[in-house]
Amino acid sequence: MKKKLFIKTYGCQMNVYDSGRMADVLAPLGYEPTETPDGADMIILNTCHIREKAAEKVYSELGRLRPLQKAKAADGGRMIVAVAGCVAQAEGAEIMMRAPHVDMVFGPQTYHQLPEMVTRAIRGTGGVVNTDFPAESKFDLLPEETAQPSGPSVFLSVQEGCDKFCTFCVVPYTRGAEFSRPVAQVLAEARRLTAGGAREITLLGQNVNAYHGEGPDGRDWGLGRLIRALAEIDGVERIRYTTSHPRDMLGWEGDDDLISAHGEVPQLMPFVHLPVQSGSDPILAAMNRKHTADDYRRIVDRMRAARPDLALSSDFIVGFPGERDEDFAATLRLVNDIGFAQAYSFKYSARPGTPAASMDDRQVPEAVKDDRLQTLQQLLNAQQVAFNERAVGTVQPVLFDRPGKRKGQLLGRGPWMQSVHAEAAERLMGKVVPVRILDAHANSLSGAVETVEAVLMPASVEATA
Ligand code: SAH
Ligand code: SF4
Ligand code: F3S
Repeated sequence: MKKKLFIKTYGCQMNVYDSGRMADVLAPLGYEPTETPDGADMIILNTCHIREKAAEKVYSELGRLRPLQKAKAADGGRMIVAVAGCVAQAEGAEIMMRAPHVDMVFGPQTYHQLPEMVTRAIRGTGGVVNTDFPAESKFDLLPEETAQPSGPSVFLSVQEGCDKFCTFCVVPYTRGAEFSRPVAQVLAEARRLTAGGAREITLLGQNVNAYHGEGPDGRDWGLGRLIRALAEIDGVERIRYTTSHPRDMLGWEGDDDLISAHGEVPQLMPFVHLPVQSGSDPILAAMNRKHTADDYRRIVDRMRAARPDLALSSDFIVGFPGERDEDFAATLRLVNDIGFAQAYSFKYSARPGTPAASMDDRQVPEAVKDDRLQTLQQLLNAQQVAFNERAVGTVQPVLFDRPGKRKGQLLGRGPWMQSVHAEAAERLMGKVVPVRILDAHANSLSGAVETVEAVLMPASVEATA
C-alpha cells in the first residue's frame, strides 16, 4: 500500500539535502513524496534552530497541522507528525510537551534509523524521541539516492558538523562534531548524480572547506583535491561549494590548494560564499571567529589573484553583544573594501545555550539593531545592483534548470549565481547555454539565448551577412 509523505524543509541547504535522503530511506516502506500536507500519512518538518524566528515557525506550523491530523483520523486514517532537523536536536522531548500531537522527534544524525523509529511510532503509544549522535555515520547506512532524476543542479553533502564554536551559533550543538565523508563515497555519489542528469554539483558542509576526507591512498584529502577529482568525472560541468569559513580557505597545513584550484579547475565556478559576520576585530574576537578583518581582506586578495573574476557573497550579524558604533562602522568599511555580489545580513538573535546569549550586560537594544541592519542592507543592496548591472552586455554560460515565470521562458544560473531568465526552447533545459544579458534587476538578470550560429559565426561573417 502506497503512503503519502510530505516533507517541509526549513534552514540551510544541508537540510534540503537531508530531506531528500529521508525520502530515500522511507521509500522502501512505501512512502511516496507528495506536494501537500492534506491527507498525508506522514509529515516531517525538517527544522532550523539558527535564529529565534526560525525555531518559532515550527510551532506555528505544528499548530496548523493539528486540524489536518484530526481530519485524517476522522476518516479512519493516521497522520504521523514528525519534527526532524536542528530544532528537534536542540529541544528534543520539549517539543512534545508544547505540541503533544507530535509522534516523532529526531535529530540530524539519526536519519538512517528512520525505519525503526517509524515502526516504534506506529506500534507504540508514546512518542519517539531520538537525539543521539550515533557512533556509526548515517552516510554509511543511508540507502543510495533514488534513481529519480533530481534535476541539473544538485547538492551533495561532503562534510557535516562544526568544531568552530562561534559564540553566537547553535550549529556545533545541533549537528555535532565535524565529520568528512570519505573521498570514494563522495565520488561514487557524484557519478550516480551525473548519470541521473546532474550537470552542476554543489558540495555542502557547515564548514565545507574544512573538508578532510579519507582518500583512496589512505591519507586525508582537502577540498581542493576533492574538487580536482570531481572535475575528472564525465558530465560534471560545474562545481560549487558552500558554506566556507575564512580560516579554512587556507588548508590545515597552511597550503592554498583550494585557492589555486580556483585558478586551475575550469568547472569550479567563480563565486564563493564566505561569511565574515563583522568587520570589527574586537567583535570578531568576541564571536570566536579566529581571524581578523585584515585576515579576511588578505584571503580575498589571494583568491582574486588566483581567479580575477571571482565574486563573493557573505553573511553578516549586526548587534552582536557589545557592538559599538565604531565596530559597526568597521563592518561598513569592510563591505566597501571587498565589494560583494550578494549577501545575507541578520540581527543578532540570542540562542539558548550559546556563550553570547549570557553576555547579558552587553546586549544591543533592538532599535539600534534595526537601524544598523537597515544601513548595512542598503549598502549591500547597492553593491548587488551594481554587480548585476555590470553583467549587462556580456554573454554568460547559463545552466537552465527550471521553467521561467512566463510561458516559453527558462530560468537558470550564470557562473556568478545570478538568476537569468530568457526565452528558450524546452530542449535547452539542463544544458549550459550562452545567453546575452540584456537587462539587470535587483535579484535577477534577463537575456536572450545566443543561437549556436551566432556564437560560432566569426565577426567578419556576421558583418557581411
Ligand atoms: N557554517 C556557516 C554558518 C551557518 S549559519 C558559517 O560558519 O559561515 C548561517 C548564518 O546565520 C551565519 O553565517 C550567521 O551569519 C547567521 N547566524 C548564526 N547564528 C546566528 C544568531 N545567533 N543570530 C543571528 N544570526 C546568526
Ligand atoms: Fe556556526 Fe561558526 Fe560553525 Fe559556522 S563556523 S557553523 S557560524 S559555529
Ligand atoms: Fe539551521 Fe541547522 Fe542549517 S540550525 S542553518 S538547519 S545546520
